[in-house]
Amino acid sequence: MRNLSIQPKVGHDTRAPSILLHAGTGGGHRTRPVYWPHMPLDVGAAVIATTRLSGDYNILTLDAPAIAAAAAPGQFVMIRTSAGSDPLLRRPFSIFEIVRDARGTPAAITILNKRVGVGTSRLACAREGDRFDVLGPLGRPFTPAAPPAEAWLVAGGVGLAPFATLAEALASLGTSTTLFYGARRAGELFRTEIFERLGVRLALATEDGSRGDRGLITVPLDRALAARGAAPVRLYACGPTPMMRAVAERAAAHGLACEVSLEQTMGCGLGGCYSCVVRVRGADGAPHYVRSCINGPVMDAASLVWEGLGH
Ligand SMILES: Cc1cc2nc3c(=O)[nH]c(=O)nc-3n(C[C@H](O)[C@H](O)[C@H](O)COP(=O)(O)OP(=O)(O)OC[C@H]3O[C@@H](n4cnc5c(N)ncnc54)[C@H](O)[C@@H]3O)c2cc1C
Ligand code: FES
Repeated sequence: MRNLSIQPKVGHDTRAPSILLHAGTGGGHRTRPVYWPHMPLDVGAAVIATTRLSGDYNILTLDAPAIAAAAAPGQFVMIRTSAGSDPLLRRPFSIFEIVRDARGTPAAITILNKRVGVGTSRLACAREGDRFDVLGPLGRPFTPAAPPAEAWLVAGGVGLAPFATLAEALASLGTSTTLFYGARRAGELFRTEIFERLGVRLALATEDGSRGDRGLITVPLDRALAARGAAPVRLYACGPTPMMRAVAERAAAHGLACEVSLEQTMGCGLGGCYSCVVRVRGADGAPHYVRSCINGPVMDAASLVWEGLGH
């Protein structure tokens, strides 16, 4: 493995050169601009390292410096997990970390992979030197909160993945940040040290009570909401749909802005196949469909129609 390390990025610029597209929302006449901070790249990336975290989870480090340099917090890549036809389609993954060399230059990305089926099993079994086609960065990134607002990140399981890059961006803005992170058991709370290094406060919960609060992540979240001071809070959530919905409902009840990162099934990641549509309400209150790969994956929680949302 090359001599690379994860180093905090200083002065993250979320206003990087952008490309303005006009993407239909599926409603024919309804179009609105969709921004990719950079044109996506398709690279053949070698596996630099693999780290097994548990039976189901591993971290892959991929030699993709151009994607690493272009990525904004919350963006994702589409990975071809097989050279053959099984699976035929690429699979979407959040960019977990930007790995930098000794001079701080982005050199690689990591992926936090949870094995659930054929594609993620291939990534779970990958070895150093294997190569994967990686397309990205894709999708709408998070909007990092700036002081005096606080940022509360709410992650469930593999929903931690888009938050390491967001925590970096928040740290560079000097935003006070708390990570609410829930899992089934202590052994499935991964890489909390990344966040601690960035000065992020941790509020943990496990379903079996082996670390942090016993129960769902809403236990510490509700406690924090009840004790909240005058500072405005911006919420961010990624994880199982019921968890994101619960966070969105609390945000609405407390009048707080909330962004969620959706993990819909995706066929292309580029707006071409409509496999990823979700319903949102426009200004007129009428629901219509948008493609979560280009209008998301990060979306305003208040705009989403949660009924019928998959995953
Ligand atoms: C924007 C985005 C970012 C993502 N980031 C990550 C990440 O960082 N790490 C990670 O491990 N996964 C992530 N996912 C989910 C990941 O893409 C899916 O788990 C993967 O596509 C499943 O592929 P598979 O071939 O292993 O499973 P398949 O063999 O296709 O399916 C196996 C089972 O998994 C279920 N499944 C398929 N897709 C999803 C999904 N999106 N969510 C939940 N269950 C699913 C299927 O319904 C089926 O039951 C992300 C998804 C999106 C849309
Ligand atoms: S994944 Fe193809 S349109 Fe969204």
